Amino acid sequence: MCKFELKSTSCWQNLQKHYNEEMKTIHLRDLFKNGNRFNEFSVSDNSIGITFDYSKNIINSKTFKLLMDFAKEAKISEYARKMFSGEKINWTEKRAVLHTALRNRSNRPVYVDGKDVMPQINAVLSKMEKLSNDLRTGKWIGFTGKRITDVVNIGIGGSDLGPKMVCEALKYYADVINVHFVSNIDGADIYEVLKKLNPQTTLFIIASKTFTTLETITNALTAREWLIDQLGGKAVVNHFVALSTNVKKVKEFGIDENNIFEFWNFVGGRYSLWSAIGLSICCYIGFEKFAELLEGAYYIDQHFLNTPYEKNIPIIMAVLGFWYNNFFNSSTCAVLPYSQYLHTFAAYLQQSDMESNGKTIDFENNRVNYQTGPIIWGQPGTNGQHSFYQLLHQGTKFIPCDFIGYINPVKKVGDHHEKLMANYFAQTQALAFGLTREQVIAKLNQAGFSQEDIKVLTNHKIFDGNRPTNSMLISSLTAKTLGALIALYEHKIFAQGIIWRINSFDQWGVELGKVLANVILPELKNGSKNTHDSSTENLIKIFNSNK
Ligand code: F6P
Repeated sequence: MCKFELKSTSCWQNLQKHYNEEMKTIHLRDLFKNGNRFNEFSVSDNSIGITFDYSKNIINSKTFKLLMDFAKEAKISEYARKMFSGEKINWTEKRAVLHTALRNRSNRPVYVDGKDVMPQINAVLSKMEKLSNDLRTGKWIGFTGKRITDVVNIGIGGSDLGPKMVCEALKYYADVINVHFVSNIDGADIYEVLKKLNPQTTLFIIASKTFTTLETITNALTAREWLIDQLGGKAVVNHFVALSTNVKKVKEFGIDENNIFEFWNFVGGRYSLWSAIGLSICCYIGFEKFAELLEGAYYIDQHFLNTPYEKNIPIIMAVLGFWYNNFFNSSTCAVLPYSQYLHTFAAYLQQSDMESNGKTIDFENNRVNYQTGPIIWGQPGTNGQHSFYQLLHQGTKFIPCDFIGYINPVKKVGDHHEKLMANYFAQTQALAFGLTREQVIAKLNQAGFSQEDIKVLTNHKIFDGNRPTNSMLISSLTAKTLGALIALYEHKIFAQGIIWRINSFDQWGVELGKVLANVILPELKNGSKNTHDSSTENLIKIFNSNK
């Protein structure tokens, strides 16, 4: 197959030329002098209550047009339709990619290998509804007849980060059930959770797509031992359920067949919170709210499929990320929610984005000669402002940021929300426009500083500005808008994968470390075999001789 040179395409070349000749040194201060940028560069959708303002990006009408040309040439919409219709777009694993079918509220058939998958999806959703209702109403009781008060989700990666993020985000709506998450193989994780719990009132959800993941199986075995020690082996059936594609392995583990909530290989781990993996969410906030989450995501699925490129929020998010990643050489992207409820959102997105687009091999199996997925990181505002924002404003790194904020707080507490949001608005303004030398000197003079002090301080107080941001302004944090927000990012990631011509749905890069850990584990129990490099060998020896 002949090598496809993405960087040689006219669309890329046009963007490169435009960047070099017009945009490399332009400033947002100048860009904002012309016209109403908000009108030109924002999308508001009142039905779902989301405004996406991307006017504080280093783009003009021409940039936008060239980015749209690029996106169209990449055929994002055509690929999206392939994904939604069950084509096996995850070609290295020969799998369809159908997290969208899990939230297909239209219930229109979706086929994989000629079989409509909607009946099986609906059957599992009904089973989730029943279990969560039974648990929340006290119909499902523990082995000794007590009501279940605590649910522990044991899983890692996609079997942890998604449901944990959603439970944290929608915590306000929780009522009768407490939820806990155990993911790390570090015994400290499960120890600290179990020490607070009573086995008689605890239900363990073992969440693992493969049911072979070392961390999850180790934690599940420890949980089972803890339960059996106190209640005996017969109690397992009342206190363990499993979420998995691997029914055989679940049964071998000893979990009752009726307590298995299945999902399928067409659901990627990091896209699985909409599947049975969402059971902890249903238990925590009720199935109705979980259904609202699905509704919100479905709404964005329709937006992504049916909206022209120029008004398509995930596509715009994707091309802006591409613009900075591949022309401005930015290597990271900060996600900054102004909501404490979203405090694990960046951690969730790290897997979602970096496991998807941290790739180097393109559609034709060639190594790419351009940058792909960025490093995703972030923390909620305003906390981040008192930690890393200094670098965002005055550091040497160029870091595009996404600001996520809500118009109405989930719970009004005094004037906290106005104060929070004043910071949300102020930060994107400061990042874009900064403070010029003239402005700094004027302010220092006004404040009565001596000319000598002004000389010393001026450079330190200048803010260059020209730091791009997106502002996502959402009506309020509900299950529906959260579902929409997650789906926006999922489709942004998908669209970028298409732009970079990589497979966003495999994750071979996580394998090698797992294989090597399996080789090393016996050496930590029985002594090393002198087969490693000198660094690893000596570290293992120090560990073994001092433990
Ligand atoms: O190690 C990466 C990974 O395979 C993720 O893709 C996945 O979400 C996680 O491990 C957990 O896998 P499982 O659900 O099969 O236990």
